[in-house]
Amino acid sequence: MMVQKQIRLYYKNVMSGVIGSKHGITPKQLKSLEKKTQPLISQINRQRRAGLTPYRDLPYNKVISRRVNSIVKNLKKKCDYLVVLGIGGSALGNIALDTALRPFLTDPGNKHGSGPQLFVFDNVDPAQFGSFLDYIKPNLKRTVFNVISKSGRTSETAAQFMIIRKMIIDSIGKAGYRKQVVATTDANEGTLRRISDTDKLQTLEVPDGVGGRFSVLSAVGLFSAAMCGIDVNRLLAGARDMDARVKNTRFLKNPAAINAAINYYFYRQDKPISVMMPYSYALKDMADWYRQLWAESLGKATDLKGKEVYIGPTPVKALGTTDQHSQVQLYREGPNDKLFTFLEVEKFDKDVKIGPAPDCAPELGFLSGKNLSKLLNNEKKATEYALIESKRPCLTVLFPKVNAYTVGQFIYLYEVTTSLAGALFGIDTYNQPAVELGKEATFALMGKSGYEKLSRQIQPVAEIDEKFLV
Ligand code: PA5
Repeated sequence: MMVQKQIRLYYKNVMSGVIGSKHGITPKQLKSLEKKTQPLISQINRQRRAGLTPYRDLPYNKVISRRVNSIVKNLKKKCDYLVVLGIGGSALGNIALDTALRPFLTDPGNKHGSGPQLFVFDNVDPAQFGSFLDYIKPNLKRTVFNVISKSGRTSETAAQFMIIRKMIIDSIGKAGYRKQVVATTDANEGTLRRISDTDKLQTLEVPDGVGGRFSVLSAVGLFSAAMCGIDVNRLLAGARDMDARVKNTRFLKNPAAINAAINYYFYRQDKPISVMMPYSYALKDMADWYRQLWAESLGKATDLKGKEVYIGPTPVKALGTTDQHSQVQLYREGPNDKLFTFLEVEKFDKDVKIGPAPDCAPELGFLSGKNLSKLLNNEKKATEYALIESKRPCLTVLFPKVNAYTVGQFIYLYEVTTSLAGALFGIDTYNQPAVELGKEATFALMGKSGYEKLSRQIQPVAEIDEKFLV
């Protein structure tokens, strides 16, 4: 059996021994975090057994993989372009998997690597979408569309789908439309389910009780990944192996528990901002996926007892080294209100040696002959050192390599970290009541019937008052 190296969480640089007792966690405080978090590990394990967090079981679900694989087998040969229509939890995981696990560029003549070129549309910018339609129209017979929406009533996805549906039917007819479109939606109800049944589309399911932001390891994320040649089995194996670690009730052996506890501790110590900073292009969109997971899960007005708390760390994404030259001035000398989580890769898929210094620039000789991986990882260490000098706490998730297995581990680690952080904050991690009003206001502004009163309420905010225009 192949032994895979695991991702690991490194937390020495949040400790008081490194950043000073006023700023870091003392061994005594770590003990008390252990005492507080340990029972919550058992609590979320019980919730899982009671079926309350079905996302936990996705890595074991063979029915989903089989269904995904059978549709992929059918469609992959005839597909040069794969277009995902979705937003939020129905898009961010797909983008993150694609950036992480497919090459940035592939050889000429092998344009899309082992699968189609992927486009994920999670917005309704008319200029962008309009030019894409012009691009894709001549290629419809070689294009598969995957519309993903649990509800089917999300305005952005519904609008994109209605445009695409008409374009395909007009160009290649109803039979072509049925062949080229896969809908991922609720098994039994909702607008997209009704459309799929009426139009006789091929469908995949968003599992019951799994919110969008926890759904990447279901058909939501797996279909586009498998179509694009990503090793979905390794992805799920990574998640399963992480599961064995994050259900461990011994705090110091459980990376999700330590991660959640440290995040919780610093939030309570006036560090409400959580910066995730990958030093890897492949992992850059994982930070975007994490941002939604963290923000929608942990930003809540009330706790589980109904008391107003207005709680939640603000997730921020940054990219090393790019943002060293954009954000680090603020990170070091601005308010000490952030916890930093770096994503570091030990071994990259490719490495590049730096050439000799020009004779007229001997001062660049220190770079000559070294690998870019060495420069990148030393830049990470340098930034971390500079932050620690300024008493800023730093965590690192260490990836031995970026591959399907370690990415599966990372996803599962952060999902369970989120569950534990939610338990520490005492809030409902799995709802998102505050997202609804904006969705409904869009219905009202777009003239949906039943929303007339809301439309009138919005007018004073939506209309431009010339008095305040300069
Ligand atoms: O995480 C979530 O629940 C949200 O981001 C949803 O995924 C997003 O709002 C899209 O919803 P739907 O899948 O119903 O179109």
